[in-house]
Amino acid sequence: MKARQIKTNVYWVGAIDWDRRLFDALIPLPDGTSYNSYLVQGSQKVALIDTVDPSMTHVLMAYLENVPVIDYVIANHAEQDHAGSIPQILAKYPDAKVVTTPKGRDLLVALLLIPEDRFITVSDGETLSLGNKTLEFIHAPWVHWPETMLTYLREDKILFPCDLFGSHLATTDLYVADEGQVYEAAKRYFAEIMMPFRTSIEKHLEKLNSYKVDVIAPSHGPLHDKASFIMEAYRSWVLGPPKNIVVLPYISMHGSTQKMVEYFVGALADRGVTVKQFNLAATDIGKLAMTLVDAATMVIGTPTVLVGPHPNIAYAAFLANALRPRLQFISIIGSYGWGSKAVEQLTGMIPNLKAEVLAPVLSKGFPREEDFQALNNLASTIAQKHKESGFA
Ligand code: FEO
Repeated sequence: MKARQIKTNVYWVGAIDWDRRLFDALIPLPDGTSYNSYLVQGSQKVALIDTVDPSMTHVLMAYLENVPVIDYVIANHAEQDHAGSIPQILAKYPDAKVVTTPKGRDLLVALLLIPEDRFITVSDGETLSLGNKTLEFIHAPWVHWPETMLTYLREDKILFPCDLFGSHLATTDLYVADEGQVYEAAKRYFAEIMMPFRTSIEKHLEKLNSYKVDVIAPSHGPLHDKASFIMEAYRSWVLGPPKNIVVLPYISMHGSTQKMVEYFVGALADRGVTVKQFNLAATDIGKLAMTLVDAATMVIGTPTVLVGPHPNIAYAAFLANALRPRLQFISIIGSYGWGSKAVEQLTGMIPNLKAEVLAPVLSKGFPREEDFQALNNLASTIAQKHKESGFA
């Protein structure tokens, strides 16, 4: 594939990773991903904005084969999927400097052993002239690490936000072609990478209101030539109220918790509440994370294993706690044989979730009539609370 022109003398020179299925040895990538790098050729200087994952350095190097000079490598983010090819770029262009935030420099020195004299650090709002093109640097900590910044190309009105507004999607389409597909991928990406930083993103979105943006060129997935599409999506995920949805991750070993879950899902549906049920023995954890973006309530279904929750449930609780979704209510349903501390242990695992804990329902053995009645009561309480809170 040739370098792809975005505007005059601005090119996409990235790598598409069709086969990658796991990120950070944790996050499922059902649709692969891309590492987008951009070449900006000004009348006097040339900049490369972000690089590619080290596994695909050769792809970027092929694009640069006939580029005799690079003056600046803009490092918006120090994570290796964008910064990992910087050492090879610096080796090929011995006079090139890495332009980044002070924290970015510290991380790149530590992670990639880049010599300190190869850096230029920039403050928030600082600009760098390439001649007829001007780069403006916008410090934006916590999208996704503390050092992150965005780069704005003033004359062409292109925002290069690195991870922010990205999507893990391998595609030959330079720009968003199928909004439904990209919305889904961007939401999954938001859920897994950005959701813990909602408060920071809210401030960044506010700051970006003062910029005229024609193109958003993230470092994963297709570019946005309709900036409002992804900006509006982020606004709804960050600022909008949660929805009338219960997310129900569960595990069942011998059928008791399964029976309770089936009954409870019906009871909620009968009361007009949408339920997203995830059997953790088979689920894609990314789908669960996506549901957490919108859900007002999480109900965890677990049998008791060695007095506590099932280990898969503990994993899901730990993940939900780390992702900090805007859940308002939480409860637990499940079963035990002879004794259980599942409720105490689970509630202790989710200190980041500032949600009201609703009375749990645990059955001893297979659920009976009184357990189903308790599930009805819990479903009524949730439906009522969602209604009172105005969650649609
Ligand atoms: Fe795409 Fe935080 O790296």
